[in-house]
Amino acid sequence: MTAQAAFWRLKTVDQIGSTSDLCRSLAEAGEPEGFAVCAAEQTQGRGSRGRAWQSQRGNLFLSALLRPIGPAREAGLWALLAGVAIAEALEGFDGIQLKWPNDILRNGAKLGGVLIDCATDDRGGLAWIVIGIGLNLAHAPEGLGRATASLEGRIRPDTLAPLILERIAHWRRVRILEGFSDMRAAWLRHALPKGTGMQIRLRSGVVSGTFEGIGEDGRLLLHTGERVQGFATGEIWLAAPPKPDPCA
Ligand code: BTN
Repeated sequence: MTAQAAFWRLKTVDQIGSTSDLCRSLAEAGEPEGFAVCAAEQTQGRGSRGRAWQSQRGNLFLSALLRPIGPAREAGLWALLAGVAIAEALEGFDGIQLKWPNDILRNGAKLGGVLIDCATDDRGGLAWIVIGIGLNLAHAPEGLGRATASLEGRIRPDTLAPLILERIAHWRRVRILEGFSDMRAAWLRHALPKGTGMQIRLRSGVVSGTFEGIGEDGRLLLHTGERVQGFATGEIWLAAPPKPDPCA
């Protein structure tokens, strides 16, 4: 058993409300970091922005509890770190790409996502963080108003969960020893290409631009005409690829 694998106490359950809700309540009750749970099915899966997460049997539902030392503003960096861990665990599959901040894509369609729950201590540090991961291994949900993808059942949740956890433990260790810069470089290697057209939807409106990378602090860098702007939050939509010119 590797040191990274030994870090985790992985529990598997058949059915649960939400793996992240279980981790949250254990975190509040003082559970040490390293607890992880993988469920065959969720009845109340949560996605980002308060959406429900369809949780059909055959897909992956995994949550992991960490107690990183660092300020609360670093919480979002753990979604990027989890994205790298997932991309590495799926290295045998083609078309896997990361879209800021928490999407896992396959050939441009949503394969899964990362949900971060966290709490702060009374000094503004992270008390705990729960990394929740949902991946469409067997079924791509329909009717969500966006393209979705699956891995056609070519890998089982109980095979993939330990691989992802091993990579999270690896990057957690790198983060402790060296900070986030190697992880940022790894994230960019797995990300959509620079220049990809995207829109960021903010409370104040929509900003269109092209992907320029991410900053050291994990912010999205978007080229919006004359300048590069950084964004800490917002929902990203990919711009439709340009239609071929019939006269060309
Ligand atoms: C997203 O909206 O893209 C993030 C989805 C995260 C879903 C996972 S499934 C395992 C864990 N438990 C939950 O209730 N949600 C996360």
